[in-house]
Amino acid sequence: MAAKVLRRPVPSSAFSWYPTAMGIRQRQLDALNSQLTQQDPLLQKIKKKQPVRVAVTGGAGNIGYALLFRIANGELLGPDQPVEISAIELKSGFQALQGVAMELEDCAFPLLEKLTISDDPDEGFDGADIALLVGSFPRGPGMERVDLMKKNGGIFSAAGKSLNKFAQKHCRVTVVGNPCNTNALIACQHAHDLPARNFTAMTRLDHDRGVGFLSRKTMLPPNEINHFAVWGNHSATMFADLSDTLCHGVPTSELVGEFRFERYWRHELGPKVATRGARIIQVRGKSSAASAANACISHTRDWVLGSEQPDWTSMAVVSDGEWNVPAGLVFSYPVYCKDGGYTVVTDEDHPNFRDFHRMQEYKKYCIEQNVKELLDEKDMVAEFLP
Ligand SMILES: NC(=O)c1ccc[n+]([C@@H]2O[C@H](COP(=O)([O-])OP(=O)(O)OC[C@H]3O[C@@H](n4cnc5c(N)ncnc54)[C@H](O)[C@@H]3O)[C@@H](O)[C@H]2O)c1
Repeated sequence: MAAKVLRRPVPSSAFSWYPTAMGIRQRQLDALNSQLTQQDPLLQKIKKKQPVRVAVTGGAGNIGYALLFRIANGELLGPDQPVEISAIELKSGFQALQGVAMELEDCAFPLLEKLTISDDPDEGFDGADIALLVGSFPRGPGMERVDLMKKNGGIFSAAGKSLNKFAQKHCRVTVVGNPCNTNALIACQHAHDLPARNFTAMTRLDHDRGVGFLSRKTMLPPNEINHFAVWGNHSATMFADLSDTLCHGVPTSELVGEFRFERYWRHELGPKVATRGARIIQVRGKSSAASAANACISHTRDWVLGSEQPDWTSMAVVSDGEWNVPAGLVFSYPVYCKDGGYTVVTDEDHPNFRDFHRMQEYKKYCIEQNVKELLDEKDMVAEFLP
């Protein structure tokens, strides 16, 4: 198998002069990465079972309410890993957060070593090992997208600055609040002392939705659906990718039928995943909360503790230029998670894709559309970028 191009935390460029033949470059990168992960203070804390401090913004919101109890119950970092929770809210939501804290206390979670609540991000992010940025300004009736971007631009630049000053330098930051890709970009750029690879945005909900649809279509359990991916922006433009997806080890095209495959992919599964969030609002009257909290837990847990191999998952990460995406954009890719880091899957990992030449063009087009949208979003928030 050809060498994979990029491995985090060490960029492949650091090893570009090594030959790729017989996996020589890959072995060097793996050796250095594993050396670095042994020095990773977060992984060391987990290894020694010292309490890990998790900061969560928007603690009294819909997602926050579904998230905090699961973190305290050990679902983020494991059933034997003590945690400290720091929940952060706006002044307007602080009283509700006090109520949530009382409920957390009433659960007497054995793993919850400490619980603090705050309306001051500097205080809330102090010493954070993991930060889950959920709180953001919701889009109101008649509100333009550009106004929403600007409102959240202020929130996430302030969060980035606070994280930079007060969080641990190894802090892993998962951005959930929408528009999550661009919010992650803003926070990352204001936290210049934290590595860019420590900032990700959540597209795991779209990923899990796609797996759920395929599981119901094929009548197979979700863990039998492998190598599904979501690319690009967490918006209706995102690209649900079936090119490598295996259902119980069988290519999806064979299960769906070669003749129907392209139509199913482009006109059924893709639009269903992209519009699922809007559909939930229509039916439930509120946006997804429990499923978003679940995705946030799966995203962050896989990132820190590793994802199931040889499968991959989807995560929006700061691009290093992979798949011709401009470096620096926060873009969702299929990724492998291992040793507290992640690796973007490259085309050498997509052996099946070459068989679908027509769809390869389609995929390229969809990636370009997502890049275009994210560059537009970046322009809209230019005033918030340092
Ligand atoms: N990435 C995804 O897949 C995904 C999925 C679902 C929802 N979301 C997004 O997650 C965000 C939260 O959703 P929700 O349903 O919990 O919303 P919500 O309105 O119920 O809760 C948001 C909470 O955040 C608080 N908040 C706002 N700004 C804050 C700040 N600067 N610091 C601390 N707290 C702050 C609010 O007071 C509120 O309590 C929304 O932006 C939503 O669009 C993302």
